[in-house]
Amino acid sequence: MERLTSISALQEKILRNPGTMAHLLADFSINVTEMFRDPSFFKSLRTKVIPLLKDYPAIRIWHVGCSSGEEVYSMAILLHEEGIYEKTRLYATDININILEKARLGTFPLEGMQLYTKNYIEAGGKRAFSEYYKAVDDKVCFHPFLQKNIVFAQHNVVSDHSFNEFDLILCRNVLIYFNKDLQNHVHQLMYDSLSISGFLGLGKREGVKFTRYENCYREFDGPERLYRKVK
Ligand SMILES: C[S@@+](CC[C@H](N)C(=O)[O-])C[C@H]1O[C@@H](n2cnc3c(N)ncnc32)[C@H](O)[C@@H]1O
Repeated sequence: MERLTSISALQEKILRNPGTMAHLLADFSINVTEMFRDPSFFKSLRTKVIPLLKDYPAIRIWHVGCSSGEEVYSMAILLHEEGIYEKTRLYATDININILEKARLGTFPLEGMQLYTKNYIEAGGKRAFSEYYKAVDDKVCFHPFLQKNIVFAQHNVVSDHSFNEFDLILCRNVLIYFNKDLQNHVHQLMYDSLSISGFLGLGKREGVKFTRYENCYREFDGPERLYRKVK
């Protein structure tokens, strides 16, 4: 991509040109995602977590490593169906500015819709999934009302600070790429950013066990990697 012939030439260019560093980072980040990924996780959110959040006067949710936005649009649909989207603010952050631009558009390839519809139904979806988007050529555009309460922003969970207090944090399929020290660092940031009794949702292959924060949470739905802050 940089039209260079050796790693040392790349190193040289990175040292002299900050834009190259940005390209390298963007190219390194793994952005695989899907709507209602692990449907049983979203079902657990819908049936176990949302009923407890329903009475809050206002709800704040943080999607750490939101990638191209499929996760946060799924959450917006779920909150809309449970009647609490209006009082919720969703913060969707990622280190990769290019992928955030895609997320902001709310437009996804049509070819993914078959799987996403299946996921939506398995996650307890209450309507026809097609009500939420319009197909245009080989893409689908999600309805703008779903974006109304979403704030997209660049944030590096390793080097940036906490910026708010949240009732629910989702950090799914991000920590698997980090070593133990980095994982502990991110856990500290998330712990500091969670309200008292706040919920933390991790990916299928992640957990709080063996981190410094193990004793600060209780398993809320163990198999779904949903935890609740207890101290
Ligand atoms: C595999 S995707 C997961 C997307 C979504 N959470 C899901 O589970 O489907 C991982 C995302 O984490 C982002 N990421 C990696 N390192 C990060 C960091 N230090 N701070 C914020 N986001 C990061 C990547 O850019 C990528 O979009």
